[in-house]
Amino acid sequence: MIRAFGPGRVNLIGEHTDYNGGLALPFAIDRGVTVEAEPLAGGEIRAEARDLGERDAFPAAAPGRAGGWRAFVRGTVAELRATGVPLEGARLALSGDVPLGSGLSSSAALEAALCLALLAVAGAAEPDRTELAKLCSRVENDWVGAETGLLDQLASLCCEAGSALRIDFATLALETVPLDLGGWRLATLDSGAEHEHAAGGYNARRAECREICDRLGIAHVSRADPDAADGLPEPLARRVRHVLSENARVDAMVTALRAGDLPQAGRLLDASHASLRDDYEASVPEVEAAVRACKEAGAAGARMVGGGFGGSVLALFPPATALLGGACPVLPGPAAALV
Ligand code: GLA
Repeated sequence: MIRAFGPGRVNLIGEHTDYNGGLALPFAIDRGVTVEAEPLAGGEIRAEARDLGERDAFPAAAPGRAGGWRAFVRGTVAELRATGVPLEGARLALSGDVPLGSGLSSSAALEAALCLALLAVAGAAEPDRTELAKLCSRVENDWVGAETGLLDQLASLCCEAGSALRIDFATLALETVPLDLGGWRLATLDSGAEHEHAAGGYNARRAECREICDRLGIAHVSRADPDAADGLPEPLARRVRHVLSENARVDAMVTALRAGDLPQAGRLLDASHASLRDDYEASVPEVEAAVRACKEAGAAGARMVGGGFGGSVLALFPPATALLGGACPVLPGPAAALV
């Protein structure tokens, strides 16, 4: 039996920068999706989503379209075969412990675990992890219909245990940054408002960013000249302000972590949240309430994580501060792997 684990991720800082050629600093978490796989004669893929009690079956050579979790399985099979992986029949069982729609990227966890499991079933060598992340991203964009960037997939596939990963999306340069919290704790709190990337505000923000690039004649929002951006009509000028200031906060966070300055890390989380709320307008009342609850419980900083418009909040708690009820400690875990 082949077994592959793909972790979810928390983005420490650098939100809505990946599709803008900017910087981000995610880490893989110790929760994720496990895919069990074994070869099956006859060229059919039979998949079971154990947590949902649902099944799917389709020919590996012609997956066809479907919705929900089935789109991930069908898309991964199709995209792997399109790169020449000799994948025939397989039996798959999916299970996980990342809450769906919580902003911790259960989707990247699923994509990464599926890829590694299916490559192993096919007896194919693992391609370069950045290429694999791009393949997972095609599954998400072209099969699931969510126009997400590469952040989640690179985090799930390329992070190292105990570390965050600085990603420069203009060049895809990766740098491991030790995440030594020395008694401080990071925890997530679900806002209770479920997000869904294929719908809602996320795709609207991406359309605004394309408009900014068209108006300024640049390839990515991160390339915007701040003065030229100030001349854009609102809300576009605000959107650029968020992206440029968030990129600067990523490097400020790297500096703070390397110096062990966790109070400063907390202030940067707060500043990131304010920018996401006011300039990027990606928050919702439930997320605001969750951020307030964390701060009132003594967090040094708290912010929305992931695409926003719902999902989870990330908070940094000083030593000896009790976590508030419902908060879930997150530890930087290893990248996706066969287990
Ligand atoms: C979601 C997307 C990522 C990224 C974040 C926002 O998690 O999947 O690609 O755009 O939102 O930073």
